[in-house]
Parts: sequence; structure tokens; C-alpha cells
Amino acid sequence: MVPDNRTAICPGTFDPVTNGHLDVIARSSKMYDLVIVGVVNLPWRKGSTVFSTEERVGFLRGATKSFPNVEIEPFSNLLVDFARERGAMAIVKGLRAISDFEYELEMNQLNRRQDPEIESVYLMASAKYSFLSSSGIKELATFGGDIEDLVPAEVASALKERLSR
Ligand code: PNS
Repeated sequence: MVPDNRTAICPGTFDPVTNGHLDVIARSSKMYDLVIVGVVNLPWRKGSTVFSTEERVGFLRGATKSFPNVEIEPFSNLLVDFARERGAMAIVKGLRAISDFEYELEMNQLNRRQDPEIESVYLMASAKYSFLSSSGIKELATFGGDIEDLVPAEVASALKERLSR
């Protein structure tokens, strides 16, 4: 596909999507004509996510239905290959803390080496979501913590059903 600098990929595992992810997706949708949310789909790692790819994609579709320029798509190849296939010239990710920076710096170098034409763009997390992670949410849900304001309602009830003890 011909690369288009108005198309961006927002990639992630999204197990599950949080309001922090949605904040980054919403802000990206104002910067690009088309935002494709790429959901990591690694079936051979079965059991390593709480939710299946179909469930994670479904939660994201439900939570982004009011954004006309956002599409949700699973991918199981290299991120830069997926971006190239979709004609995207940018990968957009959120950054919360120094720990994210170290990981993302490494990913950036790897991705850039594979395809220097695809640029990665980082959005600083909004302050109210700077502590929020999918793994933290799963831990809270396991022990009956309050997650209602941190994830979409559909995700909160699915997590409670699957994880609560
Ligand atoms: O932190 P996440 O949500 O698990 O991030 C997933 C992803 C794909 C954004 C991150 O692992 C990354 O940037 N990977 C680059 C290497 C790659 O292409 N991996 C294949 C994933 S199918």
C-alpha cells in the first residue's frame, strides 16, 4: 500500500484496554485522518492473556465506536510490517514513566532498524492516567478493587467475572 502520512497505528496487547489507552487513541484520532489500533494476536502464546484476541478487539470496538476515523485490527506479524501493509507512516504510543521510556527506546531502535521510514511518535500520558496499566487493573480486579473509573464498563464487568476470587 502507498504510505500515507495521515495514517497512524496505535499498537498494543490491550489485555484489557484501559481508559489510559483510550485517551491516547482519542488524542491520536485528532492528529491523524485514520488511526488503526493494532491488537497483538499471538495464538501460539495461548493462555498468556486473560482475554482472547476476539474479546480484546471487541472491547476496543465497543469503546471507540464514537470515533469515525478509528479502526481496530488484530496483527501477528512485525509491527513495522503491519504498519507498512496498512500504509501507515507513524506508530503512536503513550509514555507514562521512565520505565516506559527505557522499554520504548529499545522497541524504537529495533523498529527503526527494520524500517527507518516508519516514524514512532510518543504522547505523554495524561496525568490522571499516568499510573494506569493493564496489569495493575488485573491485580485490582483479582482482589475486588474498584476499577469502574479506570476501564470501560464492559471491561470492568468482564474482568470481575473472570478474575474475582
Ligand atoms: O506493551 P505491549 O502492549 O505488549 O506492546 C506490544 C507492541 C507490539 C506494541 C510492542 O511489543 C512493540 O513495539 N513490538 C515491536 C516488535 C514487534 O513487532 N513485535 C511483534 C508483535 S506481534
